[in-house]
This record gives sequence, structure tokens and C-alpha cells, in this order.
Amino acid sequence: MSQVDRELLRHHGDVDAERGLVDFAVNVRLDRPPRWLRDRLAAALDRLGHYPSAADDLAAREAIASRHGRRPDEVAVLAGAAEGFALLPALRPRLAALIHPSFTEPELALRDAEVPVERVVLDDHRLDADRVPEEADLVVLGNPTNPTSVLHPAAEIRALLRPGRTVVVDEAFIDAVPGERESLAGSAEPGLLVLRSLTKMWGLPGLRAGYALGDPELLGRLTRTRPHWPVNALVLEAVRACCEPAALAESERAAEEFAEHRADLLGKLAELAEVSVAGPAEGPFLLLRAPGGERVRRELRERGVAVRRGDTFPGLGPDHVRVAVRSPEQNSLLVKAFRDVLECG
Ligand SMILES: Cc1ncc(COP(=O)(O)O)c(C=O)c1O
Repeated sequence: MSQVDRELLRHHGDVDAERGLVDFAVNVRLDRPPRWLRDRLAAALDRLGHYPSAADDLAAREAIASRHGRRPDEVAVLAGAAEGFALLPALRPRLAALIHPSFTEPELALRDAEVPVERVVLDDHRLDADRVPEEADLVVLGNPTNPTSVLHPAAEIRALLRPGRTVVVDEAFIDAVPGERESLAGSAEPGLLVLRSLTKMWGLPGLRAGYALGDPELLGRLTRTRPHWPVNALVLEAVRACCEPAALAESERAAEEFAEHRADLLGKLAELAEVSVAGPAEGPFLLLRAPGGERVRRELRERGVAVRRGDTFPGLGPDHVRVAVRSPEQNSLLVKAFRDVLECG
């Protein structure tokens, strides 16, 4: 992999979101965790005087297990979903099929470990299990997919499962989908590994908290290269807190609000004839195509608006940009900036 390719795969929205710009590039719901969660984390600071114990780890895994109807030994707490991607080479795959366009960290981790990789670029962004090479013993996809916002049917993902194959579903954004529709987190199926993240819903990118769900043997192989005490006491506390009934209710309300705000943004964007939207979109962001590519992004930036460039995602080009779904007021600001830039072009 050339240095240029590596840098493109390593590009994420946080780099596009420079200070002082209205941020439509990063898809984190809140600019900091909610008060109740900060209070829980602050109270847990007292526990930093001890190594996280097996009992602390078990308590976090029990909370996750009960949230998803799984057993605690089917859960591994991770330093974010990103750690799950970094661990994938430990499964020693012979051929990894990566469904694209999609989040690029899994590809980077696998390529860096010299795992042979095949990109499966979807037509119309819809999953077609038949497109995946039969010899692939590892398949990685996102649901809903970043950056397309398309939610794949759980049945189509299940159709990827085979004896001897691991299917990794990155569900980092599925808590933004009402009812977590199409989630496989509660499905105990051989070879299925689901990755989840606390980052987006709870405004926690700086904590690094997530988890993996899969059968114990698969989790054992995935995590065997980790150091002792792989996640800290604050991560374990955050996981427990975010699995409690009040947090789940708040998450569901936020998902419903995302759906309303997305409909608002889609309605406003429909007034811009030059802009098309990938879909059907079900996530908290939209993939847009607007003629003018880099010029559009530059001029949006000059007007104080940051969007995520799309061309670093395999299968997309310079005219693609991803935008976060925000409040109706912010959506109006985004669409106005787009209108001004497109009219000037
Ligand atoms: C689709 C997707 N999956 C996973 C991650 C990483 O999540 P975490 O913060 O839990 O490592 C991101 C971060 O941007 C993402 O966009």
C-alpha cells in the first residue's frame, strides 16, 4: 500500500472539522457526554487507584449481555469499535472481503498486517451477499453504513455466514436507528461478530468505549493479543451506565429525533436540483453528491461550514461529501451555504 493510499484510508471527519467551523463533518451527537454520564464518570475517578478487577469487567459484560439478550461470555469490552478493527488480524484471515464504500479502519488494519484484501464495491450501496468471493474467510461491513447511511437487511447479512467464515458487522451507528432495526447484536450465530460503540450516541470520542459480541471461542481468538487490563475503569463505568434503562430510553428518543431531523434535511436538500442524496438513508448522516467537488468543500469552509470529504472512501469520487444530520436550524444553515456555493459556481 502506498503512503498516499494509506493517508487516504486514515482520513476521518475530525480532520475536516477545523476549529471555528460549524461541524457537519463529525457524526458525534453531542459535543460532550450528558450531565448524568459525566457525573457517573467523575464518581468513578476514585476507582483509578486500583487495577480494573475481573469483577469490574464481568459487571460491565453482564450489563451489555442483559441489554442485548446475550451471555456475559459472549461480550468483550473494547477501547472503542476501532480496537475491534485493530484486532481483526489476530483472527489470521486468509482473504478478507471488505464491503465498500465503508469506514476504512478495518481495511487499514488488515492491509498493515499483510492480510490479502478484496474490495467489494456495492452497486447502489445495497448489500448483495452473492458479490462476496466464496473464498473470503473474513467479511467486514457497516450497518448502517458510514458514509452511505444505508441500513442493510439483517437477512442479507446472515446470508454471508458460512462455516469457517467470520462476518464482522460494525454497528457503531445502529443506536441512531429507531428500535435498532436490523441489528444483529442479539443474534448468537457461529461466525458472527458485532462491534458496537458508545462514541456517537453519548458524545464520548475521547473516552474510547465500545464492545464486541460473538461466540466465546471467536472472542478468545480476537482478543488473545491484548495487554492485561485492556480497558480502564472509566470505560467499564460508561458501559454499565449506558446499558441502564434510562440511558436506553434516551438513546431511543435520540434515534427518533434523528429520523425527524433527517427528514427535515432531506426536505431542504430536495430544493437543490444539483445535489443528489444516497439512500434510502437511515443513519444520522447523509452522503451527498454535488458537482464541483473540492471547490464546493473549499467554499463551504470559507462560509464557516465543515463537511466530510467523500473521495477517501473506496468507490466514491471528488463530488461526494458526507454531512451530519443536525437540528433544523443547523440544517437550514448547511443548505443555505450549499445553495450560495452552487449558485456562485
Ligand atoms: C462506521 C464507524 N465505525 C466505527 C468507528 C469507530 O468507533 P469508536 O469511536 O467506537 O472506535 C467510527 C468512527 O468514526 C465509524 O465511523
